[in-house]
Amino acid sequence: MRKILRTFITILIMILGIFVILKYVPMGGFKEAKKEVKNPNNILVLVNRNFVLADSYKPKDLVIPKVGFAENITSEEKYMRKEASKALEKLFSKAKQENSQLYLVSGFRSYNTQKQLYETRAKQNGKAQADKYVATAGNSEHQTGLAADITNKQGSKGSLTTDFGQTKEGKWLKNNAHKYGFIVRYPLGKEKITGYSYEPWHLRYVGNKTSKNIYEKGIVLEEFVQNEKKTAEN
Ligand code: DAL
Ligand code: ZN
Repeated sequence: MRKILRTFITILIMILGIFVILKYVPMGGFKEAKKEVKNPNNILVLVNRNFVLADSYKPKDLVIPKVGFAENITSEEKYMRKEASKALEKLFSKAKQENSQLYLVSGFRSYNTQKQLYETRAKQNGKAQADKYVATAGNSEHQTGLAADITNKQGSKGSLTTDFGQTKEGKWLKNNAHKYGFIVRYPLGKEKITGYSYEPWHLRYVGNKTSKNIYEKGIVLEEFVQNEKKTAEN
């Protein structure tokens, strides 16, 4: 009888242990508590699954770049922060000179726009698929006005797909964005660090010095911030 009781208690403790581990121990890098970004206007701001923007945050210097827009772009998404907008104009103009016509699909997105986008995608394709490509509200770089989804003529009429990375324009972006202060923010092979699937279309403005550094080292913004110990400024 005692033996049965002891076995029963052991099993109970094991079940409780597994429950506690599953609930409280972080699995992978992105189950930690979210931290609110303190300096959202910093050009090097890190926004990801861990670092979240206040729902009221909206940059004060949003302008519309003089570039080509995708067919279904909303008026809000045409905006970007001034410095990023100027850099985007230069990048588009050089791409055109070199025979790659680019189109802006999405620049700034407010907290509420991102919320709707995520909810729509989760309803259409399920939460697991939505989580791979769409940030939840407050966790999107688009809210900083420093991100730009970019595509080519074909993509400008439809939706963004990873095939873009293999097109002439996608390759041009990958090889040249850093010269204009941008990085391809979610590259292939870095999914575990960035927390997102490969997005050859999503550029992020970080300024010329940092974009070149990140490009030359083959790292992502999370790694740069870690190396430079810039988190204190985030
Ligand atoms: N597609 C990126 C992760 C975003 O929604 O911000
Ligand atoms: Zn994007």
